[in-house]
Amino acid sequence: MRILVLHGVNLNMFGRRDPAHYGSATLAQIDDALVTLGKELGATVESFQTNHEGVMVERIHKAADEDVQAVVVNAGAWTHYSHAIADALAILEIPVVEVHMSNVHARENFRHHSVLSSVCTGSICGFGPSSYLLGLRAALDAAEACAAGKVRI
Ligand code: DQA
Repeated sequence: MRILVLHGVNLNMFGRRDPAHYGSATLAQIDDALVTLGKELGATVESFQTNHEGVMVERIHKAADEDVQAVVVNAGAWTHYSHAIADALAILEIPVVEVHMSNVHARENFRHHSVLSSVCTGSICGFGPSSYLLGLRAALDAAEACAAGKVRI
């Protein structure tokens, strides 16, 4: 299995950004933990981060032509308003798991709504870096179920 992890806008600043919500782990540490867990679970994990919406859309388009079995995405603030990223994710015919480090529902009102959730298989939030690790496990479960023809994407 090959899993693509997408990190959106401002997430390269994890470790230096708002530690009350995001803790002290850097994005590189999160990516390393994902690769380690992927190896334990027999999956290859590739991560990608950008602060440019169009670049993210193009990376998602590329994934549609790649041998990728599921996506884990934390789109950062784009989560709350980027219909362009939602439309791009909707093109993928593989499971997409939305993750957030913080509990977005316990924060400002604008964070309560995700324009991505309706095109995702499911969402995980509020567990810090563990949100990503749980997201990877969920993505692998969903990809395996898909391969076995057991669930809708
Ligand atoms: C976030 C939550 C978003 O509301 C915020 O804009 C982020 C990070 C999270 O991981 O908790 O940049 O996606």
